[in-house]
Amino acid sequence: MDKFKIDPSFSAHFRNLHQVFMYITDRCNLECEQCIYKPSISHFINEEIELNTALSLLSTFKELGAAKVTFLGGEPTLYGHRLDGQPLLDLIEKTRGLGYEYIRLDTNGQKTKQFLDKPEFKELDEVAFSLDGYSAETNDPLRGKGTFLRAVDAIRHAINVGYHVTITCCVQKLFLERNNDGLLKLETMIRFAESLGVHQINFHDLFKVGIPMDTWTGNFAPQPQDWPLVYDEISKKVQIKHFKISVRLPQCFVTKSEFARNPEFYGYCPVKMGERVMVHPNGTIRICSNLICTGYGVARYHDNIIDWDHSAGNEIIGHDLTKDTPCTNRSRHRKYGDLVPVCFSFKPDQEEYVWENRLKWDQYRIIEEDVRAIK
Ligand SMILES: C[S@@+](CC[C@H](N)C(=O)[O-])C[C@H]1O[C@@H](n2cnc3c(N)ncnc32)[C@H](O)[C@@H]1O
Ligand code: SF4
Repeated sequence: MDKFKIDPSFSAHFRNLHQVFMYITDRCNLECEQCIYKPSISHFINEEIELNTALSLLSTFKELGAAKVTFLGGEPTLYGHRLDGQPLLDLIEKTRGLGYEYIRLDTNGQKTKQFLDKPEFKELDEVAFSLDGYSAETNDPLRGKGTFLRAVDAIRHAINVGYHVTITCCVQKLFLERNNDGLLKLETMIRFAESLGVHQINFHDLFKVGIPMDTWTGNFAPQPQDWPLVYDEISKKVQIKHFKISVRLPQCFVTKSEFARNPEFYGYCPVKMGERVMVHPNGTIRICSNLICTGYGVARYHDNIIDWDHSAGNEIIGHDLTKDTPCTNRSRHRKYGDLVPVCFSFKPDQEEYVWENRLKWDQYRIIEEDVRAIK
């Protein structure tokens, strides 16, 4: 397998590389209202990372330490569509052959069913289906008419044939409302995921926080100040194992004093850690998904070379790499009163391969009892 020749600045920054997010195609069969990737979705140009290039990149990243890969896009089940999806199956099988320990695929579930019985697809450690509501009425306004029924049908089939199935769900503002029984609609979403029999529900936040990806359309964004109480209510239930499934919930904001109490824990930042790469079909390699669809990145790949970006467009410029700070990308343009933003991937107690096995991030948490003991 060919390897890429790497700029030394790249290997130095990614000395703790654990995971790869590979956006294998810019093509999609949906136009979700909230999609951060919409500006890149194209039926015409640069739509895929060619199979051999993808595998050479993965082999290179594996040598730097990567153990987990997530295939996404656009819609990854459209990868190699001219060859009936065979390139996707080859990609999964050969990635396993490279020795990756955890292979995940993120899908909208619209055309996924046709792959579920293929032996190469069964190599996946996780199939993450996107679902943004617990009914057609709550999901389809974001993802499009008919998407709920098709995705749920595929989820059920995937569970029946033995996949490790998870749901990825954007926290639309409706979830911060309560039902007549007083329960948050966010909890209704968790209960729905439970009833399907998935292993986990992984929430993404949808706040508009002054970054380029805020330009997604639709009126589904909650207000940042409404989140901390909802987060506390649900995360307490997660901690006491109130739900039958694993729940990954982004904390998103903490008070300034709470951040100051435990900066090492709340200062989690993949840009500073150099623990992940996000790879795109147009040759961009970046770290922070807040910068998707911008010109910012850290490096470019081309002709079997990975070049470090020495220009002002390098996303690490403006990050104080040696200090534990709130999220630099989310605090640059907007202020939140007594709150500061933390990384949107910061989900305490989460059951996630890299968080648990590689970073062991919960060890950095100083719990209140420890503080009292110290005093
Ligand atoms: C960009 S999609 C690509 C994979 C696939 N097409 C899908 O929908 O699952 C990956 C995930 O990002 C989520 N997503 C899209 N726009 C988002 C946004 N503005 N904020 C947070 N997550 C978003 C999607 O809902 C999906 O779960
Ligand atoms: S299915 Fe995924 S990539 Fe396609 S528009 Fe929706 S969120 Fe974006």
